[in-house]
Amino acid sequence: MSNQLTEKIKQLKTEQNAVILAHNYQSGEVQDIADFTGDSLELSRIASRTNADVIVFCGVKFMAETAAILSPQKTVLLPDKHAGCPLADMITAEQLRELKHKHPDAIAVCYVNSSAEVKAESDYCCTSANAVEIVESLPQDREIIFVPDQHLGRFVAEKTGRELILWPGYCVTHVAITEDDISKARTAHPDAVVMAHPECSEPVKAISDQILSTGQMLKFAKQSQAKRFIVATESGIIHSLKKQNPGKEFFPASERAVCPNMKRITLEKVLWSLEDMHYKITVPEPVRTRAKTALDRMVAILPAK
Ligand code: 13P
Repeated sequence: MSNQLTEKIKQLKTEQNAVILAHNYQSGEVQDIADFTGDSLELSRIASRTNADVIVFCGVKFMAETAAILSPQKTVLLPDKHAGCPLADMITAEQLRELKHKHPDAIAVCYVNSSAEVKAESDYCCTSANAVEIVESLPQDREIIFVPDQHLGRFVAEKTGRELILWPGYCVTHVAITEDDISKARTAHPDAVVMAHPECSEPVKAISDQILSTGQMLKFAKQSQAKRFIVATESGIIHSLKKQNPGKEFFPASERAVCPNMKRITLEKVLWSLEDMHYKITVPEPVRTRAKTALDRMVAILPAK
């Protein structure tokens, strides 16, 4: 069945001149059908450069929106229209405007996990892969607003030594990983290296060995001499980690680290999206052009190696 589905998807993809992009948190079978897998920054770069007419974005809505902002002439499809991001929904454009009003001289940096409207209100966008570099590049004498993820924000503040004006947003899936989960995983696998995403809580990051975006985790695992890794982020990435490192072992820090929104995308829905050309993600032009300025600045800054 899965083979038949895969064949149909491939055929339609060619007919529609489509490209399938999948975030590292997608299920293994969705990652395997994709033309490109990656973290938020890598997928944004690919979306801005592809020659395809159609982009099927296997991820959550803000990721498809990012592709639509960068490539307005392309048709961007999200296979499940309810695949949202609770973190992105934790701040509205109105709330960001109020915050900017309180700090009129501040530079506003938004994490890519935000709506197009919030991006349009921001001076810079960033992902977890380049947030440190973006903040480091900003003038020392300016205040910086950082929204909406408080945990990534604290990580960036610590790394850069800059005081950031934070917003109390958080990722439900990452904060579900506890210190206790890390301690138990370390007891079970004492020689393993713990890799944690910066969206994890501060106590979890404090007892982890490496704080990395999903793309950085893939690079680190490949280059590291270690053979075993505890992974404190959404469990979908374990598929790529295992595939790229057959001689190494990967253990989820917590069985609860599953994002229900990412997992809404299935092979069937990818097929239906290509058959029916749904669900089209578009961004109103005045919002898009302003959001694009913040995104262009992000895409131009290199992520940490
Ligand atoms: P990455 O940028 O590391 O892929 O993270 C994306 C994300 O949504 C984390 O929750």
